[in-house]
Amino acid sequence: MHQAKRFEYMTILITGASRGIGAQLALELAKDKHKLILLSRNKPNLDKITKGCNELAGEELAFSMVYDLKEIEASPEGFTDLLKQLTPELDCLVNNAGTLIRNPFEEIPIKDSKELFDVNFFAPAMLIKATLPFLKESDNASIVNVISMAAVQGSSKFSGLSMYSASKGALATLTECLAEEFIEYNIRVNALAFGAVQTEMLAEAFPGYEAPTTAKEMGKFFKWFVLEGSKHFNGKLLPVSVSTP
Ligand SMILES: NC(=O)c1ccc[n+]([C@@H]2O[C@H](COP(=O)([O-])OP(=O)(O)OC[C@H]3O[C@@H](n4cnc5c(N)ncnc54)[C@H](OP(=O)(O)O)[C@@H]3O)[C@@H](O)[C@H]2O)c1
Repeated sequence: MHQAKRFEYMTILITGASRGIGAQLALELAKDKHKLILLSRNKPNLDKITKGCNELAGEELAFSMVYDLKEIEASPEGFTDLLKQLTPELDCLVNNAGTLIRNPFEEIPIKDSKELFDVNFFAPAMLIKATLPFLKESDNASIVNVISMAAVQGSSKFSGLSMYSASKGALATLTECLAEEFIEYNIRVNALAFGAVQTEMLAEAFPGYEAPTTAKEMGKFFKWFVLEGSKHFNGKLLPVSVSTP
């Protein structure tokens, strides 16, 4: 499965690639023939996106990695073994997968909050740790964490999203800290704070609300950031929103 390094192309791991923004990012990157490792739990959905990517690329450059991010805590080695089967190196880790609970703070069981933090904060943190040896092999390495405008200080807040926003806030702070720590490895770490994007996550949380941005539109912007924009930033939390002040 390993291929010789093609210098003009990147190898990119995208979490949460089975639907929404992550799937659109994958499809956009496939058009330019980047090698893609696509991670999520839902095998049929993920395989559909992987197949779509390979059709766009005209060759088999996208690979499904069916994986539940909640598993990484119990066995980081298990994750590394799976990744090693697909690639010897990575140029970019995109921590896009996320989960959302919309519930008044007083009603959220702590167990649910911990699960939310597991997926939105601890899993990205552990993925960064696990992929570090792969990223160190690249001379153009970058990590992009997906946060939310809900986690940006001073932005509009939404009732019921306290724990979701706090988990993204934790990832924002980790982004700034690791950017500093990884300077010695020449690995850039940035976070994109998305405003409302029309995806299943948004529709489930806010039925009837129409976001000003489609997942496809965000996928195009995201592709540009992964390939080009991220070269010009390190340790930055960048608002990407036309809706949320
Ligand atoms: N849509 C918005 O308005 C908006 C705004 C701000 C920020 N964001 C952030 O943008 C990112 C993408 O959101 P989206 O709207 O595209 O959401 P989405 O449509 O719900 O997609 C979420 C993705 O994450 C994956 N995922 C969830 N839990 C997982 C787990 N335990 N292990 C592995 N994969 C898991 C899902 O795949 P499986 O179900 O196949 O595992 C899916 O591919 C998220 O981090 C979200 O918080 C979204």
